[in-house]
Amino acid sequence: TWSAVPAGPPDPILGITEAFKADKDSRRINLGVGAYRDEDGKPYVLNAVKKAEEKITAAKLDKEYLPITGLSGFTSNAAKLAYGADSVPRNQNAIAVTQTISGTGALRIGGTFLARHYPHSKTIYVPTPTWGNHIPLFKDSGLEVKFYRYFDKKTVGLDFEGLKEDLQNAPEGAIVLLHACAHNPTGVDPTQSQWKDISDIVAEKKLFPFFDMAYQGFASGSTDRDAFAVRYFVSQGHQIALSQSFAKNMGLYGERVGAFSLTTASEEERKRVDSQLKIIVRPMYSNPPLHGAHIANTILSDPELYQEWEGEVKGMADRIINMRERLYQLLSNDFRTPGEWSHVKSQIGMFSFTGLNKEQCKVLAEKAHIYMTMDGRISMAGLNGRNIEYFAKSVDAAVRG
Ligand code: LMR
Repeated sequence: TWSAVPAGPPDPILGITEAFKADKDSRRINLGVGAYRDEDGKPYVLNAVKKAEEKITAAKLDKEYLPITGLSGFTSNAAKLAYGADSVPRNQNAIAVTQTISGTGALRIGGTFLARHYPHSKTIYVPTPTWGNHIPLFKDSGLEVKFYRYFDKKTVGLDFEGLKEDLQNAPEGAIVLLHACAHNPTGVDPTQSQWKDISDIVAEKKLFPFFDMAYQGFASGSTDRDAFAVRYFVSQGHQIALSQSFAKNMGLYGERVGAFSLTTASEEERKRVDSQLKIIVRPMYSNPPLHGAHIANTILSDPELYQEWEGEVKGMADRIINMRERLYQLLSNDFRTPGEWSHVKSQIGMFSFTGLNKEQCKVLAEKAHIYMTMDGRISMAGLNGRNIEYFAKSVDAAVRG
């Protein structure tokens, strides 16, 4: 029956974890998937999460189904975290929000909703480059995927002129995917003043902004500062779509906790949109899982846990910043590796887009047991005091060829 099914390629990001696991060399390093590691290279369960789980266990909750759009306390707190306590649509009860299977699920529900109900276009513009999964995910949702310029290889920074030109030339009404903060894979974000210009173009061209916010807190260490773009766009009167993930900022990866939301014009409109979100979710997976949403909601609604969580997000962000500084010093000063490495320091969030080419990435995997995605992206969180020198030395050798 399946004789004609062709073998597909491994996933460009999650496939790297498989290759890493198969390598038994003691020096191996996994810099592929964006998952935080502590200074010992171990996955990190946040203290705020452990305490929330203790509270949940003590409360002896049942295992009943959640409603189709999830735990209402969680969705309301997730919206508050993203849009801010004094957001106008939030206070008007005009934000439609559903719990999702993490950020990917949020993007997929959003893509499907837009393909079905957005009246002006079926085309979504995504940055070049973007998170690899955006492309198949939006195609599978029924949207056509096109690209706008984002990263300038020459400056290893933002191609702001190219970005503006491409958005200005996009057809009126098109959907545009914006990484709210800590752009994946480049670690290059627009400045606040550039966001304001982007907001003007989006308004002028009547584009529809769809924000992917998978790293709130990871860019600057502050969840408020990282929500700047989302809140600014809303304050300018844009209606937006938003995908949120709690995988990174609460370390809830495998719990799959996320939210998708849309700002609407009124409470009445929000109710209609809500009803259509339910119609998308119900035949797909019926209703979302319980445990992770309880964890996130417990943290978001308990002032003490919230404060502890904010401290831990900052701690994770700061450890990554230290690794950036150290890696820069090693490449630039200690090994004098050919090339300019200051982008390692200036990029933000979980990743560094090193500029290493595919050949060099392959050599690093085969000769040094160092795994990263083939576009040269490294998850900075995979580096620590014990492996960073070996990593820098291996990069130096790969660059020198
Ligand atoms: C990544 O880009 O590494 C993360 O977003 C994890 C994933 O699912 O790809």
